[in-house]
Amino acid sequence: MMAKRDSVSITRPDDWHVHLRRGEIMEMAARHTAARFARAMVMPNLSPPVRTVAEARVYRDEIAAAAGKNFQPLLSLYLTGDTGRDEVARAAEDDAIVGFKLYPAGATTNSDAGVRDPLKLMPLMEEIAARKLVLQVHAETTAPEVDVFDREAVFIERVLAPLHREVPELKIVLEHATTIEAVQFVRDSGAGVAATITAHHLLLNRNEMFRGGLRPHAYCLPVLKRERHRRALLEAACGGEPSFFLGSDSAPHPRGAKESACGCAGIYTAHAAMELYAEVFDAMDALDKLEGFASHHGADFYGMPHNAGRLELRRKARTVERVYAAGDCEVVPLRAGQTLAWSLAQE
Ligand code: DOR
Ligand code: ZN
Repeated sequence: MMAKRDSVSITRPDDWHVHLRRGEIMEMAARHTAARFARAMVMPNLSPPVRTVAEARVYRDEIAAAAGKNFQPLLSLYLTGDTGRDEVARAAEDDAIVGFKLYPAGATTNSDAGVRDPLKLMPLMEEIAARKLVLQVHAETTAPEVDVFDREAVFIERVLAPLHREVPELKIVLEHATTIEAVQFVRDSGAGVAATITAHHLLLNRNEMFRGGLRPHAYCLPVLKRERHRRALLEAACGGEPSFFLGSDSAPHPRGAKESACGCAGIYTAHAAMELYAEVFDAMDALDKLEGFASHHGADFYGMPHNAGRLELRRKARTVERVYAAGDCEVVPLRAGQTLAWSLAQE
């Protein structure tokens, strides 16, 4: 066996799926994200959602002000049943907008304005493809009879596979893949279909939600899955396959909204995203594959240049805060109060 490495230096990475919110939480989340990533695709599920190019420009400027000049926000516009082809054309003209986000209506946080029947939007999908934009998909069915652990697999079968068959030229990112079925679908679909994978789905299986009691901070969507699904994600992320890349899905919520009788979905990882991925790749003896996953595959899929500059991580313990204060609220991060094995070299 090779000796364990104590540091790793990679091209500055990108986070291809992150929630920064607005206001004081954004101040915190944007700072954490910009300390690690050169670019991030920021999700549009605000209330109200970011549906138009005009709204996206306002939001992008807010993020840029919070994140500082060393960081480039990228945006995905929230797709609704009313999105017009003219909006797609406008989006294609703006370098910061790289695609449209498909939320099945009711699937997750602030998805009420999402799409009820995605397969009815074929002309729009063709327009998105023709304009060389990408469709980012929250791939979970909302059909109430479907078991919550099967929602991703059923959505792939009922919606994503037919969509890919109908519009094969459309580039699709299956966001936050969580199952064997998702990994298989991406592998079977050619270079135009990719998936992001979160750190929390690589680190945790569904037991974590019930470890010694009900743990709301381990609740996210898609919900954590069985160990055999986690193993499939590890293989996809750490195996160097170009169709899989980093999307943290870091999703801050105020503590009270998580520790509640009906808690929100979302795990906050932006405070340690690269440290957590380094831990995963290290455990798999695959630190040499971290740069592809975090810094190359996503940029290549989106047709963007690799970032200038490097990010260095060191095997050095760091204790995570118990909570992060964001104005009047607190956010409880993943691994709150615990020790991480990896740190940013510049800390
Ligand atoms: O866990 C999640 N949190 N999954 C999502 O799809 C949305 C996100 C959020 O915005 O809180
Ligand atoms: Zn998300």
